Formats: sequence, C-alpha cells, structure tokens
Amino acid sequence: MTDVTADPVRLGLLGAGRIGQTHARSIAATEGARLVAVADPVEAAAAAVVRMTGAHAVAAEELLNDPAIEGVLIATPTDLHADLVERAADAGKAIFCEKPLDLDLSRAQQGVAAAARRGVPLMIGFNRRFDPSFRRLREEIDAGRIGGVELVQITSRDPAPPPLAYIQRSGGLFRDMMIHDLDMARFLVGEPIVEVSATGSALVDEAIGDAGDIDTAVAVLRSSSGRLCVISNSRRAVYGYDQRIEVHGSAGMLSAGNPVATTVTRADNSGFATDPLNDFFMERYADAYRLEMAAFCTVVRGGNVPYPNGRDGLAALAIADAASESLATGHTVAVRRVDGTP
Ligand SMILES: NC(=O)c1ccc[n+]([C@@H]2O[C@H](COP(=O)([O-])OP(=O)(O)OC[C@H]3O[C@@H](n4cnc5c(N)ncnc54)[C@H](O)[C@@H]3O)[C@@H](O)[C@H]2O)c1
Repeated sequence: MTDVTADPVRLGLLGAGRIGQTHARSIAATEGARLVAVADPVEAAAAAVVRMTGAHAVAAEELLNDPAIEGVLIATPTDLHADLVERAADAGKAIFCEKPLDLDLSRAQQGVAAAARRGVPLMIGFNRRFDPSFRRLREEIDAGRIGGVELVQITSRDPAPPPLAYIQRSGGLFRDMMIHDLDMARFLVGEPIVEVSATGSALVDEAIGDAGDIDTAVAVLRSSSGRLCVISNSRRAVYGYDQRIEVHGSAGMLSAGNPVATTVTRADNSGFATDPLNDFFMERYADAYRLEMAAFCTVVRGGNVPYPNGRDGLAALAIADAASESLATGHTVAVRRVDGTP
C-alpha cells in the first residue's frame, strides 16, 4: 500500500444518497484520505455529507473541473454512470464507479473505453470482494483446500425493498441487486460464466410487478468447464439482511454465514435465540466498504491497478443482461462475451 498519510488523497463524491453517504463515512474514517467536495442536487443529501466530512457542496461540473481533486466517486442513480465516467475521464480523474457500470452494456463499454483512452484508472464498486469472509473463501479455493470448485450457492436477501422511485431507475433486480452475486460467482468460480437460466416473481410488492420488475429470483449459472452456481435473491427477509455463501468442491466444502454482534445464544421453552442479523448493507459490509475505499486511495496514487476493474463491471452486466433475457423468454441464454472479459 502507498503511504498516503502525509499528503491525503483528495476525493470528490457525485451522489450523496444511501451509498454515497456510506462511502463518505468510510473516507472520514480513512487516515490519508480527504473528501474535498460533494455534488448532489438534493441539498439535504449533500448537507449530510458536508456535516460528516467537512467537504464543500458544489455543482458536479465544478467538482470535475477542480484540479485539486484526484479521484472521483460516482454514486448517483445508475442511469447516469456511463455519462459521468466519461466526464470524469475527460477531466483526467481516477474513477470509482458504483455498480452496475450502467443500465446499458454498450454505454458501459463506451465508459470503460473512455477511461482507457484517457489512461485513468477505473474501479467498480463490487464491495463484497473486500469482505474478509468472502476473501477468505477465495484464498481457501486458491490454496486448493477444497479441490476443484463444482457448485457455488449464494443466498442474498434484502430486509425490504428500496423505494419504488429507486426501483424504476435501477434496471431491474438482475442488474441492480443480483449483479453483486453475479460478480461474486465470477470471483469464486474463477472462470467465465457462459450460460444463465433465470426466473423470478413479484411476491413482495405488487407495485414492483406493476413497474415491470421482480422482487424474488433464482438464477443458475454455468461456467466454461461446467461448474454451476445457484443464486437465490429476495427483496424481503423479515429476519434481517441475509448473506450466505457455500462453495462445494471435489475435496471439501467452504461456507460463510451471517455475522452477528455476539455469539451468545439464549434457550428457553420456545427454543434457541441468537443476536439478530445486520439491518442492511451499510452495517453488514462496513469493513468491506472501508477496505474498498482504502484500495481506491492506493489506486489513485498509482500504487495498485484498479481491482475490480471496468472489465469486471462489463462481465457482470453481460450476465445480468442474459438473466433478464432468460426471465423474459423462459430459455437458457448464452452470456455475451464482452471485449477483454472475463
Ligand atoms: N455497492 C453497494 O453496496 C451499493 C449499495 C447501494 C447502491 N449502490 C449503487 O449506487 C448507486 C446509488 O444508489 P443509492 O442507493 O445510493 O441511491 P440514492 O437514490 O439513495 O442516492 C442517489 C443520489 O444521487 C443524487 N443524484 C441524482 N442525480 C445526480 C447528479 N446528476 N449528480 C450528483 N448527484 C445526483 C440523488 O439526489 C441521490 O441523493 C446506484 O447505482 C446503486 O446501484 C451500490
């Protein structure tokens, strides 16, 4: 890691909503990083980040043109991502873009190409790769402890759906929510995902169905050598944020469960009770978000290549597109190979 403590990495934030504020919190807790400016048309959102970090609230254009800012975080609604990646690349900034790269694969490709053309690093917000437990899964696989990976099972359930206005701009469950799990599948399977079968329903909220989306889904992925991954998603889990992974291999099995605050169990005549699960992503992945921001700071100073990068963003989006097509057609769909992926 580059020593950034003497001269803090100066960052700008575009979008100060749920995830923008989460990143602002991580930056405030990172020695050697400073959030210089924040841009969000919603004054209260920007003000929350100003209070948290001391950053200046400015217009997006001003932020992008500020020569003091070295790295830009894009945490706006997804349909603005590719545009902002291009603008930040033109301004010569190192870029951290939230998932998914865009709603549209060809626009996303243009964004990645713009960053490459300008020679600026582009990192994608697949924060779960930085989760210590999920990282450990990868390390155990790499060390050969379970032999060859044959089956991956990912359970990923949100406590409750986001507001309908968010859903309507999100690109649908596969591109918005399952995309994290699609990236995790690539991360753990370790070879290209070539085929997807997916199905889904709107069981949680009729309004989500009326908006043309689903809130409950299952996808089966197949890799180039036939390894399989099953992903189960729901936008409702009354018992909290449920994030579990099991990796089955030729010589064993790995699993990562839900962390809870303490290991205390209470038993009485109604059974056994433990601490509740985390409320949502901000708490469950707090460590991952901090590690992710620290990694981006190192990237900004040229101490590391961006990871995960634009190609990872494109590959996950291509799988999400195939899953959406599978839902619509009822068929298994081949994943489009995007330039340079996996
Ligand atoms: N990595 C993760 O764990 C994670 C979690 C949640 C969301 N996300 C992603 O982050 C993005 C934002 O999601 P969210 O949940 O924070 O949404 P949100 O609606 O809570 O926040 C988005 C913010 O962007 C602001 N905004 C809109 N137009 C803007 C513009 N032109 N310039 C600057 N700001 C603008 C909005 O006013 C809002 O405050 C989405 O792409 C989403 O997929 C990632």
